Amino acid sequence: MLGIIGGSGLTQLANLDVSHREVVRTPYGEPSGPLSFGRIGSQDVVFIARHGYGHTIPPHLVNYRANMHALDSVGVTQVVSVASVGGIRADLGPGALVVPHQIIDYTWGREMTFQSGGDGPVVHVDFTEPYAAEVRKMLLDVARRIGEPVTDGAVYATTQGPRLETAAEINRMQGAGADIVGMTGMPEAGLARELDLPYAALCVVANWAAGRADSLHGIKFEDLESVLHEAMARVRRVIEGLCAP
Ligand code: HPA
Repeated sequence: MLGIIGGSGLTQLANLDVSHREVVRTPYGEPSGPLSFGRIGSQDVVFIARHGYGHTIPPHLVNYRANMHALDSVGVTQVVSVASVGGIRADLGPGALVVPHQIIDYTWGREMTFQSGGDGPVVHVDFTEPYAAEVRKMLLDVARRIGEPVTDGAVYATTQGPRLETAAEINRMQGAGADIVGMTGMPEAGLARELDLPYAALCVVANWAAGRADSLHGIKFEDLESVLHEAMARVRRVIEGLCAP
């Protein structure tokens, strides 16, 4: 079963024919909301809105452990995580869809592991390639098939938020190799790896990162809404493509 995590701009999947919703309890507390089960085309899908259905949970307060544990516990076998990001690399402007291949984690103070200590040997999961190759390929193949331009590969810098970055922070991140910047990529991807759950992200560039192009003198969040709205329609087409036989 395919699990889809919706981010900003994707709190519902209009093309999901919902059969039921389930409040799943986990040893890590409550997920961001009930899981929505249903079908898109011939594919069983379960959907969760990362920030809650009313978009009320900020990135640093999302219970990533509960969300990932809940998806795993209901039998999800692959996860596609949709996330909005800022574009740093010159070819990744507003509206671009990107399947990142690497992560730099700048978050702190988040519950970022299922290993709580004392209940078994310590395990250091391999995270050299943070995204599952087969889920990345599936996304890229579908995008190609339906003619939706999607960039293959980007380094996703995950910041703590909820504030946006300073221009100097973006410069520093770019120097470190970052191509896009968002607030939710971690610990989500690391937790998926701990669960051995194949996971990849489909990122939507909502704005130029701070200090770049038309964000030179600031980022107006109102301007992002229309970009996200239009781009999420394309994300839905990609998701529909994933579910086509
Ligand atoms: N920075 C961090 N997260 C974001 C941005 C950004 O510019 N845009 C959308 N999510």
